[in-house]
Amino acid sequence: MPKSSSFITHVEDLLFTPPAKKGREKLKILLCSPEVAPYANVGGLSKAVGDLARALIKLGHDARVFMPKFGNIDEEKYPSTVECEGLKVPTDNKERPELICNVKLHRSPSRLLVYFLENREYYELRANVYGYTDDPIRWALLSRGCLEFFSKCSDWVPDIFHANDWETGHIPNWLRTTYDKDSKLFQSAVTFTIHNLQFHGNFDHRNVPELNSDDGRSPIADFFSDRLLWQDILRRGIMYGDVINTVSKTYSKEILRPEYGEFLDKLLTEVRSKLHGIRNGIDYEELNPATDKLLKVNYDVRSLDRRVINKLALQEEFDLEQDRDIPLMAYEGRIDSQKGVDLLTEIMQPLLKDFKVQFILMGSGDGGLMELIKQLRDDFPDKVGAHLMADFTLPRLIFAGADMMFYPSRFEPCGIVPMEGMRYGAIPIVRATGGLADTVEQFDPAANTGTGFVFQEFDGWSLFAQTVRALEIYRQKKVWQELQKRAMMQDNSWEARAEEYIGLYEKAIHFRSKQLVDEERLEAEGADFSPI
Ligand code: GLC
Repeated sequence: MPKSSSFITHVEDLLFTPPAKKGREKLKILLCSPEVAPYANVGGLSKAVGDLARALIKLGHDARVFMPKFGNIDEEKYPSTVECEGLKVPTDNKERPELICNVKLHRSPSRLLVYFLENREYYELRANVYGYTDDPIRWALLSRGCLEFFSKCSDWVPDIFHANDWETGHIPNWLRTTYDKDSKLFQSAVTFTIHNLQFHGNFDHRNVPELNSDDGRSPIADFFSDRLLWQDILRRGIMYGDVINTVSKTYSKEILRPEYGEFLDKLLTEVRSKLHGIRNGIDYEELNPATDKLLKVNYDVRSLDRRVINKLALQEEFDLEQDRDIPLMAYEGRIDSQKGVDLLTEIMQPLLKDFKVQFILMGSGDGGLMELIKQLRDDFPDKVGAHLMADFTLPRLIFAGADMMFYPSRFEPCGIVPMEGMRYGAIPIVRATGGLADTVEQFDPAANTGTGFVFQEFDGWSLFAQTVRALEIYRQKKVWQELQKRAMMQDNSWEARAEEYIGLYEKAIHFRSKQLVDEERLEAEGADFSPI
């Protein structure tokens, strides 16, 4: 095909939105999140929201994203046009009744439309996404700004708002109270996704003075009152969402128990008929060892032997002995006790002493744990490599070069990194919790099935046992390659998961229409209607 016509096909591809699957209406979906990749990228949340939105577009739906315009979002890289100038976002405070914002629209090459909420004081002057004492105001502004924009300033009105984590938990609350009779938004349904139940707001929900405890039924406090600080926005998201979900099936069940429920297990049990679990996926086009330009050599299941070149390059990158036979084990992610990094450092000492092994740890987070890792690197310089800060390229080199990767989490709503590692043939060693339990199947040598090594109890012995098992199997090159192939051939792409989300959105829309009919009937009968 001549170059010019392939170019035309490409441009047409860009402009063409496929029709939504037969029998399904094309939905207008608005995803709101404090972070969305690649514009603001802190953790798994940004990947999950960005990838889901793009996957929904591929299915033919009109999915868009709404997020703050942080100071470090590069205008040149992500050009935008003004959609709404001088949007007055109500604060419900008497002295300062509104905050003035702009909404800008960016059209990404993947056809995703991104609304940026612009406010100098709360977003533009801040380099980081999280970590400010006035975060409760910043996230109330995001949620209210989002609703106010679609109510007052946009012709495009979402069929469904999809709010993510406590930072946007006000959206379901306001939508079902303040905006309940809004002439534009009254029909919109709302889904609330819990990516992490550990954060309810900017306070420690385990230590709330009686006086400040929030049952979620009062109105959201004004932006500048102290009460806002104590409001349990996560609880409110759960209470007012038409449909709730979390990011794996197992986690959606675990959180009904006090050990995992973070004080919300009773509420979650009460609303369990609207609680679902859809595991996140990963972007199979971007994360592909056969085409990934960041790798030294590309490979796939048929050319797995080439992978070792990436392993040798990784050893060189971290100043470790370059030897294809030494098992290379890695951790990539937040350096945090949620992720079980403490457990990992506990078993590293005996392994480093008794076995010929190498470790690479990368990520940032808890200061104490990072110190421990530095100490291990100093004690075993040719066996331990560490990069204790964020980096874009290194994770890919680790996925493509490490033999095994660890995820010994205390709890894990989903866990995206194991899926990424598996796609590149790095065998996961995981604790059977949350999404990890749903992602990795225990290796069975007799049946030659499974995709990794799984332990149950959160203790060093259990992790140690599975690690030694993995080290033994690693010596059997043929068995190991078969294990790698099975891991690489898992389908963790977003396509199927995005279909599940459509099912969820349809449920929420159905629920809302039914609620409106019921409300009308109740009103006619003179009864009072309040959510849940
Ligand atoms: C949070 C969870 C993690 C999940 C991610 C995306 O970071 O801790 O398990 O994969 O959100 O949903």
